[in-house]
Amino acid sequence: MKKDLEKIKKSALSAIDMVATPNALQDVRVQFLGRKGELTRLLKGLKDLDGEKRKAVGQAANFVKEEIEAALSARESALEKARFDAIAKEEWIDVTAPGSSCETGSVHLVTQTINKIVDIFASIGFSRVAAPEVEWDYYAFEALNMPKEHPARDDWETFFIDEGVSKKYGKQVLTPHTSNAQVRILEEHDVPLKVVNIGRVYRRQADASHVPMFHQVEGFCVGDNITIADLKGTVEYFLHSFFGQDRKIRYRPYDFRFTEPSFEIDIDCDVCSGTGDNCRVCKAGWVELAGAGLTHPHVLKAGGVDPDKYSAFAFGFGVERIAMMKGVSIPDMRMLYQNDLRFLKQF
Ligand code: DAH
Repeated sequence: MKKDLEKIKKSALSAIDMVATPNALQDVRVQFLGRKGELTRLLKGLKDLDGEKRKAVGQAANFVKEEIEAALSARESALEKARFDAIAKEEWIDVTAPGSSCETGSVHLVTQTINKIVDIFASIGFSRVAAPEVEWDYYAFEALNMPKEHPARDDWETFFIDEGVSKKYGKQVLTPHTSNAQVRILEEHDVPLKVVNIGRVYRRQADASHVPMFHQVEGFCVGDNITIADLKGTVEYFLHSFFGQDRKIRYRPYDFRFTEPSFEIDIDCDVCSGTGDNCRVCKAGWVELAGAGLTHPHVLKAGGVDPDKYSAFAFGFGVERIAMMKGVSIPDMRMLYQNDLRFLKQF
């Protein structure tokens, strides 16, 4: 039996020596030490021996078992080390190389501007509402005192959608102004109220001071005895808070179907410092920032509000123009939407 033990030990050690992979090593382990392994079988046979002999062979067998286990684990470590060495040869890290930095983004100038505008209006009690970007003809025009085929509609250079026409509300449009919110607000809220609606609007236009998708801030204030003084006070508080006290503002009479009287509000051009010299953005030193006025009684009626009891003012500012008029020297509005990082990183 001792001879058998010696034989098992030899063949186990030489098999362990020859394996080249962890899987093959595991097979060798099973072959000798597994439940049906060669050494295990021999140990099972011990019970047929008597007394002293069984003890002596048993001890020797355990000794061989320990030797085989030690050889297995030494080989396992050697194989593992060889594997790491091979990986290290192929890929290595230069721990002394300088790191590559992760660039930080910034909030787009238009979004920064919107955030400031919201803060200023919030400080004088205007809450923010929202209205759909894809809108019915009814809310964009008809409810604002512009019946179908009315020529005043031409000013809004609107994108109409041919699909999904409603009998009640007409065609769908990409809303050309945030004034679409006015009658919706009256339908959904009790008066008196003071709100701003800031949203994206769309028109068929593109040049240095126009883009086809832009943003407007619609202000709407309904209450008792609202007058032009309230409108002017609010507009000037906003413009002076945003641009500083010494920027020049002017009101020009205008004609909107949904306000009476109506104005346009201009600011002195920041691109040419109000000179108008060769300026692509302004007209003779002035940039139109907004339309505004006292809300027409037909609009209040369309929203279910009695114009004999309540009056209102409303205005709509262009956000991109506001952004361009504050010390940023952007000579063409289209640059805001070209996604050129060299441009965007400046803000
Ligand atoms: N919606 C107008 C435009 O896009 C601007 C405007 C004018 C808004 C008068 C108003 C308003 O709320 O009362 O040109």
